[in-house]
Amino acid sequence: MNILALVSSYRKKGNTARIVQMIVAHLDAMAERHNESLTFETLYLGDMDLQMCRGCRTCFDQGEEKCPLKDDIPAIKAKIDAADGIIFASPVYVDDVNGIAKNVLDRLAYLCHRPGFAGKCAFPLVTVGSSPTHHALRTLNGALLTWGFHLVGQAGFKMGALMPQAEVGSRFQSETAKVAEKLFRAVVQQQAQRPSWISLIVFKVQQLAWQREPPDSYDYAYWKAQGWLDPSCTFYVQPRASRVKVALARLVGVVAARVLT
Ligand SMILES: Cc1cc2nc3c(=O)[nH]c(=O)nc-3n(C[C@H](O)[C@H](O)[C@H](O)COP(=O)(O)O)c2cc1C
Repeated sequence: MNILALVSSYRKKGNTARIVQMIVAHLDAMAERHNESLTFETLYLGDMDLQMCRGCRTCFDQGEEKCPLKDDIPAIKAKIDAADGIIFASPVYVDDVNGIAKNVLDRLAYLCHRPGFAGKCAFPLVTVGSSPTHHALRTLNGALLTWGFHLVGQAGFKMGALMPQAEVGSRFQSETAKVAEKLFRAVVQQQAQRPSWISLIVFKVQQLAWQREPPDSYDYAYWKAQGWLDPSCTFYVQPRASRVKVALARLVGVVAARVLT
């Protein structure tokens, strides 16, 4: 089991890093209890060479390998490719994810067209001073879902400017344990093959959108190569879900596609 945490705060001893470290400790303990081998890595995005998306659309139209920016984005993508599950952790800045996180979402936006992370689990989390977290979590959820991830849950931690380590430990013991448990179970039980309603609906909306694309487009070729344009294909991976659930979700997807696209 290979889990990766992306931490978008520059503060390596900050609130977000502290929460992630607690989750890692719980994951380690769970892996030991269940006799599972666990590889865990934390990527501090602030340490990485990340240029801002220029909006040239080359990744969309010609493929991500043609991106004119030469930096650490392919390395981050490769780390996620190698993971079974990820934690995407950001501090809240002015009601949303911080700039580093948003830039990573923008730089990987081609994955909204070509959901390369299907079959993997993700747990978005944010830390915040005191305000609500739903806006920032929505930003993360929306991106991760359209990239193909199975969303295991979400969490927001209210921590002020910088919560002392001892207080983090006493206040968030049970909440971080719950995050670890959900992620652990989801990865071990391969829950990504048991899609949620929303994942099935998103797949149908995307399928309808790409079926209408010009056949010579990069995205169309990708969807075709995966077999996802075939009308009988109901999800990125063979779904373990009841036929009724799949059929109903696809019906909702047809209606949603009319409204959204
Ligand atoms: C530029 C900036 C903007 C912030 N905006 C908000 C905000 O809108 N609402 C809030 O409650 N806290 C806000 N905060 C506080 C952080 O969200 C909070 O302290 C967070 O846990 C910091 O995480 P870190 O220590 O991992 O960087 C902001 C902090 C900074 C530096």
